[in-house]
Amino acid sequence: MAKPLNIGLIGYGFMGRTHSNAYKRVNDFFDLQYRPTLKAVCGRDAEKVGEFASQWQYESVETDWKALINRDDIDAIDICTPNNMHAEIAIAAAKAGKMVLCEKPLSMDVEEGERMVAAVAEAGVANTVWYNYRRVPAVTLAKQLVDEGRLGRIFHYRAQFLQDWTIDAALPQGGAALWRLDAGAAGSGVTGDLLAHCIDTAIWLNGSIQDVTAMTETFVKERMHNLTGQVEKVGIDDACAFLCHFENGSLGLFESTRYARGHKALYTFEINGEHGSLRWDLHDLHRLEYFDHREESIIRGWHDVHVTDGDMPYMDKWWVPGLQIGYEHTFVHQVADFLEDLAAGRPTSPTFAEALETQKVCQAVLESAEKTAWTFV
Ligand SMILES: NC(=O)c1ccc[n+]([C@@H]2O[C@H](COP(=O)([O-])OP(=O)(O)OC[C@H]3O[C@@H](n4cnc5c(N)ncnc54)[C@H](O)[C@@H]3O)[C@@H](O)[C@H]2O)c1
Repeated sequence: MAKPLNIGLIGYGFMGRTHSNAYKRVNDFFDLQYRPTLKAVCGRDAEKVGEFASQWQYESVETDWKALINRDDIDAIDICTPNNMHAEIAIAAAKAGKMVLCEKPLSMDVEEGERMVAAVAEAGVANTVWYNYRRVPAVTLAKQLVDEGRLGRIFHYRAQFLQDWTIDAALPQGGAALWRLDAGAAGSGVTGDLLAHCIDTAIWLNGSIQDVTAMTETFVKERMHNLTGQVEKVGIDDACAFLCHFENGSLGLFESTRYARGHKALYTFEINGEHGSLRWDLHDLHRLEYFDHREESIIRGWHDVHVTDGDMPYMDKWWVPGLQIGYEHTFVHQVADFLEDLAAGRPTSPTFAEALETQKVCQAVLESAEKTAWTFV
């Protein structure tokens, strides 16, 4: 019989839904010593949070996150609020002795992130950041292939995250759904929102990033602010591109924008090594492309690996070979790993400390763009 782990969720938007789904499904597919219980959900609007609680079967609601954190019947706080709330909630939760699962990016900046890392270390509480793309089976398989040395020495790492939803100059900034355009709530634009995912995956697959040179652009300079009703300066980066050196000697090339017509969530990466290459595309997330130059020349070419077999990461828990899974399963996998690690007494990657590395790269990218100079991480 699995032990209950009482979850207190803060924020019931997009991520609140993906996490709730993961908590509900995880024990149906994974054999675990813990079982999440949807104990309470917190949001500021009592009626809306009540509706969410009844739809997702949370036992109770709170309208003040501090009240949730102070409850004795909550084991773990899950932070699904905009970025400017992460640090305050995470530090208070750790001080109250709760485990903390925090959405990405870890924080608004490095200074906040360092305080969060110190808080969970001091409290000795389990912690993780939801960089969920690590747990797409094809991406986890890429990690396995890199770690096995199949690519040999790595020369290049290339990643893009392209969207097109902010092109309309009449789109306001701030408030529900549009907080990502408000630097006060988001910290940065595509750098913290999209490139943070690319950087997390890159560090995981290819090691630390040493230095960066970046450019950013804000194409629409002013937008009406939903909270003030005034036209205000836009403080986020609409697009960002950067070059970097990895510690292993390879070169990195990253690009993100919300102004690439036709692209909704085109996260792609490619790694080129001495013996071979790998590439992956979120729009086709169950496939991993692999090229091995050591193959006999007459059959040498890109393999399009359909990552659905039972001996591939996580896939023995799902259906039968040939039948794929999707986006929501990455969150199920993260919960499964968290619960398995909790039972084994080990940290769940990425921990706050590991996610701080991504935060440092994001900050160096923004500083480099501002100074127009190479910047050390
Ligand atoms: N891992 C991923 O792929 C991924 C994807 C999307 C978002 N995110 C991250 O998740 C977080 C939330 O993003 P989202 O898309 O779910 O946003 P959202 O706007 O859909 O939801 C945010 C929720 O936070 C609530 N909220 C805001 N201030 C609050 C407060 N003071 N107290 C309680 N609730 C409050 C809002 O009411 C809303 O329910 C962000 O940090 C974002 O970067 C991660």
